[in-house]
Amino acid sequence: MEKSSIQSLLLYCRPGFEKECAAEIQAQAQKLDVLGYSKASPDSGYVLFTPYEPDHMAILTKQLLFVDLCFARQMVAVLPLVSGLPVDDRISPLLGAVSGLARQFSDAWLETADTNDAKELSVFVRKFQGPLTRSIVDAGLATNKANAPRLHLFFLNSTTVYLGISRPGNSSPWPMGIPRLKFPRSAPSRSTLKLEEALLFFLGDDPKSLQPGMKAVDLGAAPGGWTWQLVKRSIRVTAVDNGPMDRELMDSGIVEHLRVDGFRYFPAKPVDWLVCDMVEQPSRIATLIGRWMAGGHCRNAMFNLKLPMKKRYEELKQCRATIEETLDNAEVPFKLAFKQLYHDREEVTGYLVRL
Ligand SMILES: C[S@@+](CC[C@H](N)C(=O)[O-])C[C@H]1O[C@@H](n2cnc3c(N)ncnc32)[C@H](O)[C@@H]1O
Repeated sequence: MEKSSIQSLLLYCRPGFEKECAAEIQAQAQKLDVLGYSKASPDSGYVLFTPYEPDHMAILTKQLLFVDLCFARQMVAVLPLVSGLPVDDRISPLLGAVSGLARQFSDAWLETADTNDAKELSVFVRKFQGPLTRSIVDAGLATNKANAPRLHLFFLNSTTVYLGISRPGNSSPWPMGIPRLKFPRSAPSRSTLKLEEALLFFLGDDPKSLQPGMKAVDLGAAPGGWTWQLVKRSIRVTAVDNGPMDRELMDSGIVEHLRVDGFRYFPAKPVDWLVCDMVEQPSRIATLIGRWMAGGHCRNAMFNLKLPMKKRYEELKQCRATIEETLDNAEVPFKLAFKQLYHDREEVTGYLVRL
């Protein structure tokens, strides 16, 4: 097989959000003066972005931050598509191509898009993982260095694959960009997984900003899936919702339930965390989050924006601008990031922290 070089960025996304993912990568690349084109088939679960100027891939791999992409679940710098792999020996041509990507790899992930069509393919991918990993080790391509690039093989079918690399500090830490979280049996709602994933994704394994004894407000808390995540970490919660809270959670003794309007409630003293999962227009939530942070009512915020059916990327940009403008006017230094997490559906999660 002829040697080729990295040519495009492959972004995995939630099926149905390819248009948003493509618009976002075009805009982020343009901020780095990189122009290019996107290939994004509806419901395929991925987007391929290729700079017009091949040299510009280096700018993207060095300067583009994964955390700045909301709709991408994973970001991989890939070679041109490899197709027509011989079914009796897929490994030899793959190893030949792989050695052109990096000298050694910290991991090798065999992946597919997160679509129903790809589910059948995942059986093949699981079977192929063992033999391929052994060949990579035997060829001296594996290393224990955690910061070495990760190898990705993103299969479109059993003979067609994108080969690429991601950098561990600038990509999702999970295969396919999907954390395998187990639903905790005592949690009162499946929504609990949204906050668990958000905390893991934005704060990592051992966050200093989530400590026992801290205080939080949960707006739109009922029945208590998000509150449950905070209580698990021994954080005291004021749960704001007209709906009923889970009895067991209330028995913890560290939850206060207030049946008041989440848009009118503000705490008497500042709290460490605001979390908000109210089903409301995104623009109203963005305004509210900006007010909380600008008014010094919280230090950190994790919140959900339920996106409309149309113009979802535009809506997100508008919400971001609302929060940024409010905090800039109040001269509050901050960091703001958005991600469409695996457990998010037609929504995205925002993370805001006062610096
Ligand atoms: C998606 S549910 C929240 C689920 C919750 N995060 C969990 O994990 O169990 C949305 C909640 O927002 C509440 N809500 C909507 N508008 C509200 C408002 N203006 N004030 C307070 N709660 C509100 C609803 O009553 C509903 O319980």
